[in-house]
Amino acid sequence: MVNKIAVIGAGLMGAGIAYVSAWNGFNVTVVDIKQEFIDAGMERIRTDVMTGIDKGKISMTDAEGLMSRLNATVNVEEAVKDADLVIEAIFENMDVKKEVFAKVDAAAPAHCILATNTSSLSIDELAGSTKRPDKFIGMHYFSPVPAMKLLELVIGDKTSEETIAAAESVGKTQNKKTVIAKNSPGFIVNRLLMPVMREALLMLERGEATKEEIDLAMTSVGKAPAGPFTLGDFVGLDITFNAMSTLYREIGDCFKPPETLKNLVDAGNIGMKSKKGFYSYGAEEDEPEPPKGADPQWIVERLNIPGVREAMILVDDGVANVEDINMAMKLGASWPMGPFEMLDQLGVDKVRDFIKKLHEDLGDCYSVPKYLG
Ligand SMILES: NC(=O)c1ccc[n+]([C@@H]2O[C@H](COP(=O)([O-])OP(=O)(O)OC[C@H]3O[C@@H](n4cnc5c(N)ncnc54)[C@H](O)[C@@H]3O)[C@@H](O)[C@H]2O)c1
Repeated sequence: MVNKIAVIGAGLMGAGIAYVSAWNGFNVTVVDIKQEFIDAGMERIRTDVMTGIDKGKISMTDAEGLMSRLNATVNVEEAVKDADLVIEAIFENMDVKKEVFAKVDAAAPAHCILATNTSSLSIDELAGSTKRPDKFIGMHYFSPVPAMKLLELVIGDKTSEETIAAAESVGKTQNKKTVIAKNSPGFIVNRLLMPVMREALLMLERGEATKEEIDLAMTSVGKAPAGPFTLGDFVGLDITFNAMSTLYREIGDCFKPPETLKNLVDAGNIGMKSKKGFYSYGAEEDEPEPPKGADPQWIVERLNIPGVREAMILVDDGVANVEDINMAMKLGASWPMGPFEMLDQLGVDKVRDFIKKLHEDLGDCYSVPKYLG
C-alpha cells in the first residue's frame, strides 16, 4: 500500500506529479539538486493550487491539506528513506538517471517501488542500475500533469505483477486512466504520433499539399484539435525531433526525421517558444504558400493510416492491447478516436488495400501488418 511518495526532480513534470499526488492524499517529498530549483518547483505547485481555487475546484481547507502533505529537500537519501514509491522526473539522460537510481536503491526501504517518468529511455536498462528490477516500472505522465488524464505504465522484463498493481492503484488514486505498454521505443503515444508527423512532413516535402492545407484537413475532416504542424510548434520541434530520433535510433530508417524538421531545429526555430517553427508567432506574419489543391479526405487518410498501421504493429508485437492503445491516443494525444476505431470506421478491407498500395509504391516501411491477415 503506497502512502508516501518521493518525487525526484522539481521541474515541469516533477512539480506536476507532486501536485496530483498531494492533492489526492499521498504524503509527498520533492527532491532537487539545489534549493532554488525546489523553490521554483514549489512555486509551480502553488500556482496550480491557486488555479484550482480560482476555478472553484479546490477549497481553502483542501489547499491547506494539500500543502501540509508536501515536503521538499535537497537530500535524496533523506527523501527516500521511508518512501513506498519513488517517482523520478529528472533530465532525460541515461547516465544521470542510472546514477540517481543506484543512490535511491541503496537508501530506499526494501518494499519501495522505483518508477521513472522517462519519455524515451529503456526501462530495462534503468532497472539494471538497481538491485530490485522486479520493483521497477515506468510511470509516464503527460504534460501538463494536473490536466492530462493519461498515465502510461511501462513494464520491463522483470517488473512483477505486484509492482504493476501498485502503480495502477496509485494512478487511479491520482485520478489518471492507466494503460499498459511493454518496454519498447516510444511506448504507445509517441510511437503512434511520430508516423503521422513524419508523413505530414514528407507530404510537405513532396509538394503534395501545403502545411496550411494539411493542418486544415486534419482539423476539419479529421476532427483533430490541431493539425500536425500547429501541434509540433506547440509541443516544441526540439521535443518532436528528439522523440523521432529515438525511434530512428532504436527501430530504424522508417522513423528517420525528415530534413525539414532537422533544419528547423538546427536553426533554433523550435516552435512557439522560439516564436518561429513551421509558422511564425509574434510580429512577423507568415505568407501562406499557394494551395496545391489536395483532397482533404485523402490527406487525412494518407496521414492517419500509417498511425493505424503502427498501432497494429504494437498489437502484433505484444506491446499493448487494442483497448489501451485506443484510450492512450484519445487521452494522451487528443485523437478524436482511437486508431482501431479509425480502422473500424474506414473498414479493414479499405485500410489493407491502402497499405498494400503504399507498400508497392514506397517499400517496406509500409508493409502490411500481420494484424490484417
Ligand atoms: N516535459 C514533458 O512534456 C515531459 C512529458 C513526459 C515525460 N517527461 C520526462 O520527464 C522527465 C523530466 O522532464 P521535465 O520536462 O520535468 O524536465 P525539467 O528540466 O523541467 O526538470 C528536471 C528537474 O530535475 C532536476 N534534476 C536534475 N538532476 C537531478 C538529480 N540528480 N537529483 C534531483 N533532481 C535533479 C533539475 O534540477 C530540474 O529541476 C524527463 O525524463 C522527461 O523526458 C517530460
